[in-house]
Amino acid sequence: MVSFKFSIPTEIFFGVGQLNNVGEIVKRYGKKVLIVTDKIIRELGYLDTLISNLNKKGFIVTYFSDASGEPSSQHIDSFCKKIMDLPEVVIGLGGGSCIDFAKGVAVKLTHKNSLWEYVNRTDFIDLIPTECTLPVVAIPTTSGTGSEVTPYCVIKNDISHQKAAIISNYIVPKTAIVDPELTKTMPSDLTALTGLDAFAHAFESLINVKSNYMTQMFSIEAINYILNYLPLAIRDGTNLDARIYMSYSSLLAGMSISHVGTTVAHAMAQVLGAKCSLSHGKTVALCLLPVIRDIKGEEVEKKIYELGRRILYSSESVDNEKVVTKTISKLKGFLVDLNSYYRGNIIVNESTINIMTEDVFSYMKRPLDNHPEILNKKAIYNYFNEIVRGDNNVK
Ligand SMILES: [Fe+2]
Repeated sequence: MVSFKFSIPTEIFFGVGQLNNVGEIVKRYGKKVLIVTDKIIRELGYLDTLISNLNKKGFIVTYFSDASGEPSSQHIDSFCKKIMDLPEVVIGLGGGSCIDFAKGVAVKLTHKNSLWEYVNRTDFIDLIPTECTLPVVAIPTTSGTGSEVTPYCVIKNDISHQKAAIISNYIVPKTAIVDPELTKTMPSDLTALTGLDAFAHAFESLINVKSNYMTQMFSIEAINYILNYLPLAIRDGTNLDARIYMSYSSLLAGMSISHVGTTVAHAMAQVLGAKCSLSHGKTVALCLLPVIRDIKGEEVEKKIYELGRRILYSSESVDNEKVVTKTISKLKGFLVDLNSYYRGNIIVNESTINIMTEDVFSYMKRPLDNHPEILNKKAIYNYFNEIVRGDNNVK
């Protein structure tokens, strides 16, 4: 067996009703709590429930409920300037954006430079968050980003129109409270897009050149559950079984990317999302489709074969080559079936496509290098061209 290192630093409390135990769980980090969330989560009543649970245990609670949309370094910098009394723990309550906002706050409140200087890039030497970073507790209300267990804080820069991640073990949530009941209020489009993000994490971590036996097992399980349960969760948001398995898949895929990262689909999606102001789930799904179509190579096909043994019906498994072909076909079909949630007009000119291509190579080179095939600028340009023209229907 190949050698590998695997660790899961996040303590995970998973299950329906776990939010009720939040006071008992969080008290180890101190009494002064800052909650970061958004308006929708506040309107749904989750913020009140959380505050009430914390108040019962005597916490001193402050909250910020304007973490709407994908967080920007400028937004987090200006918010943190207003904080006079340093909290002892930051709770991110909401989707991946709220959790990433909380991670950014945990860094910014304890470090003096602009948050953007801490993003991990391949074109300049970034600063690194230190052990001073405040502990983060993640309470996801969506099932997809995996941010509840990852060392990533994805932020955008409102001035340069770029999007990148701070990557540090110090921002891995110390605790994740995953209560699938909280995801039942997600509308179908958000369910689809966050679920597709989890699907991309699972697939990209599987084909990733850094993947190992442990991450492959998590990736394959996540893909299997997502194929089965995402359509159910989209169709009926109150289906608790579907919600439970999607929350579980988000965790599994999140743990996989924590160890090996993503690949070319996320590299392109980050750049496309930043340039065209499109949501992460949309851009990831758009970029993933042609990547799955073009997958090839002996090593990656072995992984696809293992995936096929899990997701195909036994009667479909004939020989290795057919298993690989049928597996790829099944994955493409799954994405195509959901394309009403992510397709749409993207209006960019040729020079923007050129800039996006350069951006992938200037600051998203790391995920690009994780891809099982070496892709040059022409290949990335062609992918972008295909994606923005909307002619990436799989035949
Ligand atoms: Fe993602």
